[in-house]
Amino acid sequence: MELFSRPRRLRQNSLTRELTAETTLNVNRLIQPYFVCDGKNVKDEINGLPGIFRESVDSLTKTIESDLKLGINNIMLFGVTDRKDALATSASDEKNPVIQAIKELKKQFGNDLLIGADVCLCAYTDTGHCGVTEHDVINNDKSAEILSLMALRLAESGCDIVAPSDMMDGRVGAIRATLEKNDFKDTLIMAYTAKYSSSYYGPFRNAANSAPGKGDRKGYQMDFRNRSEAMTELELDEAEGADIVMVKPAMAYLDIISDFKQNTSLPIAAYNVSGEYTAVKLLVKENLADENIMVIENLTAITRAGASIILTYHLRDILENGWHNA
Ligand code: PBG
Ligand code: ZN
Repeated sequence: MELFSRPRRLRQNSLTRELTAETTLNVNRLIQPYFVCDGKNVKDEINGLPGIFRESVDSLTKTIESDLKLGINNIMLFGVTDRKDALATSASDEKNPVIQAIKELKKQFGNDLLIGADVCLCAYTDTGHCGVTEHDVINNDKSAEILSLMALRLAESGCDIVAPSDMMDGRVGAIRATLEKNDFKDTLIMAYTAKYSSSYYGPFRNAANSAPGKGDRKGYQMDFRNRSEAMTELELDEAEGADIVMVKPAMAYLDIISDFKQNTSLPIAAYNVSGEYTAVKLLVKENLADENIMVIENLTAITRAGASIILTYHLRDILENGWHNA
């Protein structure tokens, strides 16, 4: 054959492939999630999330010290507690494990660490819902108020990034107004902008002990049949003062990430969620995939779709094993 174009020319060896690769995964833009619980000297591996632990502040501090040496500088903290009530009081009080952890981490590691914290009520409400319930319905506006107080308490403790994952309407604006009013002008808001109601959150709900006791989250998280609606959420969060906008989950939602890329100039984050992580771990356990290659493939695909920041439970494994350099 006499062919003018032969796309395979560019694929002929690793040097031509390197020269023409369109996407590079940057490990400096990955964020490792952690679960912080009450108590002392607690470090329990989470059922369904191999290699990820629920830790008390003292133990977490040691883990993060060693993770820092590996090169993990960006972290996201999730709280776990048994202290739950109707108004999610423990989300914002002194004893909240995330607030305690942030104070300790800032004291020990200062600005070597960029600390993000989840802003949501589901770990703190007795119903397990992300907002507060009144007469069996979620009270959106009251929830936004309580979330704003939680964000303020986190900012006061030294948190660099507050990350509302609750999906209440108007909460980004409410949080931004509260932060501004209290002079926390530099606290970033990483909004869970398009957070879908997803079966990929299963292992996380074990981890955070945050599954709703009754009902589901379809009244506030997005319906996976919807794509345009994500643009409505994007416009709102941008207008309300989000600094970073997130799509969650990642792998089954690459179209949404790509839409974000075309419709905003803000940094886009994607959450490579617990079920996506554990799916890889299970394939690997059954000898059906190479973990190093599959992890890099997944994270590169998320990057290719348009995310510049990825929250992923794989980060420690990547750095420990140098998978990104292979
Ligand atoms: C709670 C929250 C969830 C996740 C992050 N924040 C679970 C949920 O909404 O049910 C999921 C993260 C993961 O699965 O890794 N608002
Ligand atoms: Zn929640």
